[in-house]
Amino acid sequence: MRLWLAAALLTLGFGAGAQELRGHGGPVRALAVLPDGLASAGFDQAVILWDAERGQARRVMRWHGGAVNALAALPDGGLASAGEDGRIAFWPLGGAAAPVRVLEGHSAPVAGLALGPDGTLGSAGWDGTVRLWSTDGTARVLEGHQGPVNGIAWTGTRWASAGYDGTVRAWDMQGGQLLAEFGLPQHALLALPGGGLAAGGADGIVRLIGADGAVRELGAGSRPVVALAAAGGRLAAASLGGSVTLWSLAEGRLLATLEGPGLPVWSVAFAADGRTLWTGGQDRLLRRWDAASGAPLGPLAPVIEETLPAGADLEGARVFRACSACHALAPDSGPMAGPSLHGIFGRRMGSLPGYPYSPRLARGDITWTPETVADLFTRGPDVVTPGTTMPVQRLGNPAEMAALIRFLAVATAGRSAR
Ligand code: HEC
Repeated sequence: MRLWLAAALLTLGFGAGAQELRGHGGPVRALAVLPDGLASAGFDQAVILWDAERGQARRVMRWHGGAVNALAALPDGGLASAGEDGRIAFWPLGGAAAPVRVLEGHSAPVAGLALGPDGTLGSAGWDGTVRLWSTDGTARVLEGHQGPVNGIAWTGTRWASAGYDGTVRAWDMQGGQLLAEFGLPQHALLALPGGGLAAGGADGIVRLIGADGAVRELGAGSRPVVALAAAGGRLAAASLGGSVTLWSLAEGRLLATLEGPGLPVWSVAFAADGRTLWTGGQDRLLRRWDAASGAPLGPLAPVIEETLPAGADLEGARVFRACSACHALAPDSGPMAGPSLHGIFGRRMGSLPGYPYSPRLARGDITWTPETVADLFTRGPDVVTPGTTMPVQRLGNPAEMAALIRFLAVATAGRSAR
């Protein structure tokens, strides 16, 4: 009976957490919906590819030398990422250990990416430039903004950009043209169906700029709007105040305000069906919402349905939710971002056959014990094993650490005793 209860609680615990995706070691700065799932990028320098239905991370790509600020889904199913390091990287469908192509030119962080015609990619840089990259890797450099450029969009007929200088500019072969001047920083720009644009302002106002130049204001609170998304006639605006507002574009009517944990929301994206909205925020989580009602979505199928062995530490199982998106406890885990932790204590680092470790872990100079695993997450993987692809994360609370180690001792050994 006690065993049954423990197993039920654990299943519930993992299941209830599954409408949120945990994996990032820092705020989730950007999202992109892909044909086979979802991609997220964070201040932890990682890009994560998710199997959203199963609540599992398929792959972690840590390559950028700083926060990853922007993502763009590519027509071939791949992904482009751009970051604080000023670089733009192209990833194939399913991810890879290293990018297939890298674009360099920006001399400061890249804050925005957008896909244009014929495979062109537009980038907005804090070096004050907009760059339009052709598929051969050459770029047209557009200058005109007085300060960092935050947002870029392709309207279907022309490129547009928005920046700290409070302006929205349009670009054609002749050069730049001032579209609108709002007098305060604009943090995000989105192309709307019909050729219009939406700009997210530092004052919490979203300004819709019609194809005819007419401006309409939507008040989304008093804190800066930093991310915008649109689908199915709806617009979502995420703010640093922690709220996400949903609007009907046709009437400019507020449909819902999404109540999260009150922490900044950095990113927002509609799923391909337009019915689900994803948000990413300061709490390092990806959350799922009903795009019509704004209600948080209930649990997906439990991620871990297996019965855990008797004696597994319940507090430790809760702490392990920070790891469960990437690590299985059973020997045969299927495609997950991290190696299975089955039999981890006594195992040499980087030694699970068939797993594509980073060169740092493949070196195998650590044997995993309760002490070395605790050290890994006390000082952090970036300090203990610099160069690892595991996202930066630390567990500061010694009681939680002890519980995690107790949980791992039982849960990673359980099945070998069969
Ligand atoms: C977003 C995915 C992700 C999360 C979350 C994550 N890890 Fe990892 N972990 C990885 C990846 C990827 C590797 C392999 C890294 C490499 O090759 O550099 C790894 C490697 C490891 C290793 C070394 C395994 C070996 O075979 O050498 C241990 C131990 C580990 N993780 C434990 C944890 C624990 C405990 C947590 C939760 C506190 C956690 N990880 C959270 C992705 C993750």
